[in-house]
Amino acid sequence: MKPVIRRFALLCILAVFVVFGLYQFAGREPALQPARKASHTSGRIDHPVKWKDIPLRYPVSSMIPLPTGNPAVIPNIQHEFGVETLENKKKREMRLEAVKRTFLHSWKGYKKYAWMQDEVTPVSGGYKNEFGGRAVTLVDTLDTLSIMGLEKELSLALKALESIDFTTTDVPTVNVFETTIRYLGGLLSTYDLSGGKHTILLDKATDLGDMLYTAFDTPNRLPITRWDWENGALNGTQEASSLSLSAELGSLSLEFTRLSQLTGDPKYFDAVQRISDQFEKCQNTTSIPGLWPVRVNPQRENFNADRTFTFGGMSDSLYEYFPKQHMLLGGLVSQPRKLYISAIEAAKKYLFFRPLNLNNQDILLSGTAKKNAADFIKLQPEIQHLSCFTGGMLGIGAKIFSRPDDLDIARKLVNGCIWAYESMPSGIMPESFNVIPCPDPDDCVWSRQRWHEGILSGRTRGFSENAETVIEEGKLAPGFTEITDRRFLLRPEAIESVFILYRITGDTSLQDKAWRMFQAVNRSTKTSISNSAISDVTDEEPEHIDECESFWMAETLKYFYLTFSEPDVISLDEWVFNTEAHPLRRPQRE
Ligand SMILES: *[C@@H]1O[C@H](CO)[C@@H](O)[C@H](O)[C@H]1NC(C)=O
Ligand SMILES: *[C@@H]1O[C@H](CO)[C@@H](O)[C@H](O)[C@H]1NC(C)=O
Ligand SMILES: *[C@@H]1O[C@H](CO)[C@@H](O)[C@H](O)[C@H]1NC(C)=O
Repeated sequence: MKPVIRRFALLCILAVFVVFGLYQFAGREPALQPARKASHTSGRIDHPVKWKDIPLRYPVSSMIPLPTGNPAVIPNIQHEFGVETLENKKKREMRLEAVKRTFLHSWKGYKKYAWMQDEVTPVSGGYKNEFGGRAVTLVDTLDTLSIMGLEKELSLALKALESIDFTTTDVPTVNVFETTIRYLGGLLSTYDLSGGKHTILLDKATDLGDMLYTAFDTPNRLPITRWDWENGALNGTQEASSLSLSAELGSLSLEFTRLSQLTGDPKYFDAVQRISDQFEKCQNTTSIPGLWPVRVNPQRENFNADRTFTFGGMSDSLYEYFPKQHMLLGGLVSQPRKLYISAIEAAKKYLFFRPLNLNNQDILLSGTAKKNAADFIKLQPEIQHLSCFTGGMLGIGAKIFSRPDDLDIARKLVNGCIWAYESMPSGIMPESFNVIPCPDPDDCVWSRQRWHEGILSGRTRGFSENAETVIEEGKLAPGFTEITDRRFLLRPEAIESVFILYRITGDTSLQDKAWRMFQAVNRSTKTSISNSAISDVTDEEPEHIDECESFWMAETLKYFYLTFSEPDVISLDEWVFNTEAHPLRRPQRE
């Protein structure tokens, strides 16, 4: 969700979401999340569904084929690593083992307390099923088991996978985006990592892909992003959603494309290519040409109504998928590059900014832009942990599209998130917070007075007019004006970007930063059962909140592990990560 400065605005937005019946946000889930519907089966269907045999309501008149031919030359992403010193190797391997031990601790907790359930509750030792009850943690973690070389655990998990039915689910409404990035991404990635050996993975992925494909069976072939799957199976009327988050719509392309590549059936690629074509058609007609707003209307094909723009939650992976789709398609299609470059040029103008900070570091953060009624575009400097993937994205784009200036921006964005981690007593960045953007990046010299002014100017009347009181009550670190959500939910985005920049530059100081982040996260989140989200990163000893989403083992620990592994383990020149950190194999030139 987009950053908002005032609590009142936040409540309004929340209310709007409840009204629209959006029970959960897009995959990089924002801070304030209304309660989900209780999980239950509505009970109209209690047996596996043969989705392939259900006649299409709206068959396509011609199928968009996968591009064919020898992949184009795409410049390498990874640094050319030389021989490492013995001392460095020793340190690196010690860190790698520590990450692996933490992973095994969490995995054992899941096995013991929540096996075959969606998530373990890491304080109470129970479990939760909020992702359809198809063992999302298990499926999401398969490829991490493979990458960490835990063959025995992987065999056990693959055996358990046999009994999971991917043609139905326990919830009445399927979140197509979450299901795609976590389940489909996890299955396809582990299949790729096995070199095609474990055919059960592709079989299950195809079952699930065929189920999800029915969500695209609408008059304009754009999907129903929160989908009543039983209605879909029972030949009910279907129409594309009238309100979707742009990330939900734009972050299906990698998984569906890979499924077409692996099965030879072009229909999955056809389905997502129609979405990309829609984004292309609208790119220059939005309130900020180049960017797409958070909310779009696929039913009416209206992508211009909303005036809020961000690389944070609800839009994030839409942008992330353009350079990644370029790589997965072997550089044979010009569209993703075009869409990416126009978006980045707009983001540089309207989203990225240098924040006022104590040591006058030359760092960048990515905020939110809103166009108001007077057509004035205003930057809202609320930063989300979710937006920390941006540095990694800019880094990859800089390399594959030969845009060297973007690499400097990438590094500054990564340093911005590291700054936020290091500013907190726990050593962990909060879920969301506000800072002070310097209107002129060359005039960004710290003073306590500027900080105080920034604090007071962002507040509504009725708040204390005394900045020192606000600082003390809000436990604000220098440069922070408000912490709008103090939690840490075990999210991966910051370490994801540190990992990518390390692989691009070979700069071992990034490994040192990663190690500090890891120690801080381990210190504050470890429970006797697993690891837990925490309530307040401004406490040195934060409270656990009994939650461990599947991305902890699927993403966060995987990116920590890869930061300390040898650089040819999942090389970025051979693999492309989906937005749930599932590596898919890139086509190689002959
Ligand atoms: C599905 O519904 C449509 C429209 O109501 C109808 O024309 C069609 O015959 C139905 N198909 C099946 C297989 O029931
Ligand atoms: C949008 O505008 C930019 C800049 O004028 C141009 O380079 C790009 O091709 C346009 N994109 C589309 C999809 O028309
Ligand atoms: C992780 O945290 C635990 C508990 O606080 C501690 O015993 C352990 O040494 C930590 N591990 C690392 C690598 O920091």
